[in-house]
Amino acid sequence: LTGSSDRPALDVDQTEALLHDWFERPVILLASGRTALRIALAEYGLTRYDDRIWVPWFLSRCVLSAVTHQAFPVECPHSASGTLLYHQYGFRVRDHPRDPVVEDIAHSFFAGPRTGRRAWRGELAIFSLPKFFPTAGFAGGLLASSEEHAAKIRSATRNTAASSATCTWMREVYQLSFPGSRRYEPGAATWLDSASELLFQYPAPDPEALAGLPSSRAEIEAVGEVRDERARRFRELFVTHDLSEFWPAEEDILPYALPFFAQAGLPALARARSALDTLGIRSDVYRVNVARSMLSPTYRPCLLVPGHQQMNDHLFAEMCDALADTA
Ligand SMILES: Cc1ncc(COP(=O)(O)O)c(C=O)c1O
Repeated sequence: LTGSSDRPALDVDQTEALLHDWFERPVILLASGRTALRIALAEYGLTRYDDRIWVPWFLSRCVLSAVTHQAFPVECPHSASGTLLYHQYGFRVRDHPRDPVVEDIAHSFFAGPRTGRRAWRGELAIFSLPKFFPTAGFAGGLLASSEEHAAKIRSATRNTAASSATCTWMREVYQLSFPGSRRYEPGAATWLDSASELLFQYPAPDPEALAGLPSSRAEIEAVGEVRDERARRFRELFVTHDLSEFWPAEEDILPYALPFFAQAGLPALARARSALDTLGIRSDVYRVNVARSMLSPTYRPCLLVPGHQQMNDHLFAEMCDALADTA
């Protein structure tokens, strides 16, 4: 979600404190989630030419790029030195991974509408803020299991900021590249890969990128309530019996994006996608691991559709009606 370029409400230390309170775990704010991922792998002592890391299939390209700085990504656990445990689109992985684990909660900021606390699966986890909140640029970070470890990483990264001109350029590329920006320009995406590479060279957070983030726990919870209500409504409407294990009603799941499965398969998903296009809603077909298992994944195609807080109720209802018509 792209935010305004107003001044951020909170500075870096205040944002860290707010997120610490939310996750109930020490936080190190960094330039982005992928920066955090690279640092987490380095903290575990993984190196590019010695180690392999077990990653799931269909992982996004930017995450794979981050991994390649510190380890060779592999799709099976046998020879791996560790696991990237990715809770795909917010649906938590259920099986036990190979230690050490970097828990990727980039798509799972909310453990429930009012808390980010959960049963952590590794010593280090990474999060990404623009997936759930508007920001003026890249922003993410690491969660550590002790204050001492957090302080060590913080002091090693805090004075590594890019120059102010570079930060401004990166925010500009970010704002022009992502849908949702009023100034959306597809051409700007040309520079996104280059800007992303800089996230590894300059791990410190860009304070200006925090513009648009919530400034209190109450604001985060208000977002959680909207997302939770939308996810529950969507589940009621579209989750068929065969998917009840994937998305059980009693589990708190506040997905990054809502998965719409069509019994009639890919042609029905393509029809649904064009129906949403006419409403001005961008969506796309992705593969989701409905088994929620890294060891025995079962991928099914679905349309990922939005349900975030910046969408108004009327548009959300229109989207659901359009999907119901094509189901
Ligand atoms: C699963 C996952 N992890 C990590 C990241 C990286 O987060 P960031 O964009 O904050 O670098 C992404 C970004 O798309 C992602 O999809």
